[in-house]
Amino acid sequence: MSALLNLLKDGRFHSGQALGEALGISRSAVWKQLQQLQSELDIPIHKVRGRGYQLADPVSLLDADEIGANVPPEWAVRVLDSTDSTNVQALRAISEGVSMPLLVLAERQTAGRGRRGRVWVSPYAENLYYSLALRMEGGMARIEGLSLVVGLAVLGALREEGVQDAGLKWPNDVLVGGRKLAGILLELVGDPGDVCHVVIGIGVNVNMKTAESVDQDWTSVRLQTGRLVDRSRLAASISLKLQAELAKHARLGFAQMREEWERHHLWQGKTVTLISGARQVQGTALGVDGQGALRLEVQGQEQVFSGGELSLRLSEG
Ligand code: BTN
Repeated sequence: MSALLNLLKDGRFHSGQALGEALGISRSAVWKQLQQLQSELDIPIHKVRGRGYQLADPVSLLDADEIGANVPPEWAVRVLDSTDSTNVQALRAISEGVSMPLLVLAERQTAGRGRRGRVWVSPYAENLYYSLALRMEGGMARIEGLSLVVGLAVLGALREEGVQDAGLKWPNDVLVGGRKLAGILLELVGDPGDVCHVVIGIGVNVNMKTAESVDQDWTSVRLQTGRLVDRSRLAASISLKLQAELAKHARLGFAQMREEWERHHLWQGKTVTLISGARQVQGTALGVDGQGALRLEVQGQEQVFSGGELSLRLSEG
């Protein structure tokens, strides 16, 4: 099916006969695959008598060769068609002793994982589902603030792609106009105080235009820029930015990157509500500390919050 989609991705008309010849299959086999594209992958196709078949909307497919040639040369790259979750695949590779760094990408996820147990909606060929597995040595300093540093890398790549107004929301969402453009989920195995492995999972809404099942305000690069984005180019650009930010973090530690992060924090100085289960704390966002924890001024006192289960909202008014 992906070979057929590759022929159709230009958004032009292709006759059933031409598609069959290019794929070495009969016209009725082409027709069956077209049906599958629509029913299984939710990709709408127009059929016009005398002209043939056309995607309702052109797509940008992941190009493994292009990605491999443009990410740091020491990274191994796996590009999958459909998988449960690229984070889960990366965690499996770690448990199998595969050499690191390993980048796993997929056209779609059937069980994409978000923070705080949420589902990450991952339709076919629309967004980026990106997981980088790394081996980490050097104790807690290598982990502190790591997810915030990943946010800086993703933000840099998205701004370069033309989303100038994007910014960060603690701990690591990328937002534009109050809507989510990208999310980050770090998963750790081993001893963070000694040698461990980390999977940096990044989900970017790239070309998605509609999604009824997303349960939060969202946007995409395409909705922001008005054009179809080359997903392979964006994956490579995120990789290069990530490599640079990770190297800086390893060299300096998060404390030295704190001010840079705060410059991009959209809610800096704003009144916010921090939610932790049933508990809610309202205060003014002062920024982050040297470990990446959130600093809030609550009734005149500074309090510090950290942990993956926390979520932040902008308070009314
Ligand atoms: C969030 O909730 O904001 C984090 C979303 C992280 C989604 C990405 S998509 C690639 C990787 N694989 C997953 O299952 N999740 C992360």
